[in-house]
Amino acid sequence: MKGLSILGSTGSVGANVLRIVDAFPGRFEVVGLAAGNNVHRLAEQIARYRPRLVSVATAEAAQELARLVDLGRISVGVGEAGAVAVATHPEAWMVVASAVGAVGLVPTYRALEAGKDVALANKETLVMAGELMVDKARQTGARLLPIDSEHCALHQCLDGRKPEEVRKLVLTASGGPFRERPRESFDRITPEEALNHPTWNMGRKITIDSATLMNKGLEVIEAHWLFGIPGEHISVLIHPQSVVHSMVEFVDGTVLAQLGVTDMRLPIQYALSHPEVWEAAIPGLDFGQGMSLSFHPPDRERFPCLGLAYRALARGGSLPAVLNATNEEAVASFLDGKIPFTAIPEVILEVMEAHPPAPLRALEDVLQADTWAREQARLALSRRAAARLGC
Ligand SMILES: NC(=O)c1ccc[n+]([C@@H]2O[C@H](COP(=O)([O-])OP(=O)(O)OC[C@H]3O[C@@H](n4cnc5c(N)ncnc54)[C@H](OP(=O)(O)O)[C@@H]3O)[C@@H](O)[C@H]2O)c1
Repeated sequence: MKGLSILGSTGSVGANVLRIVDAFPGRFEVVGLAAGNNVHRLAEQIARYRPRLVSVATAEAAQELARLVDLGRISVGVGEAGAVAVATHPEAWMVVASAVGAVGLVPTYRALEAGKDVALANKETLVMAGELMVDKARQTGARLLPIDSEHCALHQCLDGRKPEEVRKLVLTASGGPFRERPRESFDRITPEEALNHPTWNMGRKITIDSATLMNKGLEVIEAHWLFGIPGEHISVLIHPQSVVHSMVEFVDGTVLAQLGVTDMRLPIQYALSHPEVWEAAIPGLDFGQGMSLSFHPPDRERFPCLGLAYRALARGGSLPAVLNATNEEAVASFLDGKIPFTAIPEVILEVMEAHPPAPLRALEDVLQADTWAREQARLALSRRAAARLGC
């Protein structure tokens, strides 16, 4: 039995991780669960898996949790310190990083520091602090295994190949719900429309990121750090069917692609079982009825977030952390109905342009850039929200 700690167990990825745990009885023991505020779902998970420790975002959430479930000897942590305790528990053989956003950075980094293998869904952590995370994993010998379906695909295509053999990584993207929507109507896009993803069922933040194509931009940065390939050798193709999860073109002209159904349980199982290969608990692709696959380049004018991510990666230092923090703030503001969809890239550009990038020598530098960007973003967002209300 391998001990597993899950950061973000109550989310979309976290729930799928637990479905994999259920599908392979006797393989995993759930040691720690970290969540934010969804104490009802966490209470159900505690009752079922009886971990050693759990963590929630606030003291109020911890009190509510104690009312909902018999905790017995299970300890309950709070906030960042609680999530770090879950991520570094001595009995955790692997940590699944599936919290959303910057909140996952410190616990995931501490897991790598403690030499834990990390199965990573929480791409924002690599965007913010890719070099520090990859260096830390190298120092401690921890493995960093991708859960993102595109990076899982690249991991499989690159198996045993050297970076100098790679001509190009090709990340595929569904194109999101506005793939064919005219740009003139983008300022009327509602949160409900943006949350209606055509092929994947995911958490709210990543679904909006998919609609703006920022998700693909974050994935370009993630791929750079995971596989050591420069940004100019990473491209993006719109592939509406989401069957090819990504491809690698090698210097000899060969292209390897990985195909599969759109179900996060497959990449999660890959990361949790690697380097073993286990029989999947779900049906595979059915080519029997015929299948058409199409690919075309993204429209960077309609989806400027993609270009902003490439720009942040090229400039490096603290700029990707600024891109990430501003995006998180802007997406939350859009979901709250305060700014139009089109303001998301505008605010990110504004804050990036105001930022003098600095080198990231330690985690504190990353957190400082994150705090600075959030302050700037909130100012820019409230100006836009006020203008929208006509005040
Ligand atoms: N969903 C997918 O299919 C998918 C695919 C590839 C990559 N990813 C990436 O995986 C990550 C998670 O995505 P998701 O779709 O699963 O998001 P989600 O459904 O919104 O879940 C987010 C998780 O983070 C937790 N969380 C929030 N604040 C926290 C805090 N302060 N401390 C600890 N945990 C906290 C949430 O807890 P509460 O709900 O309890 O507040 C929840 O468990 C994102 O980085 C996303 O980009 C997702």
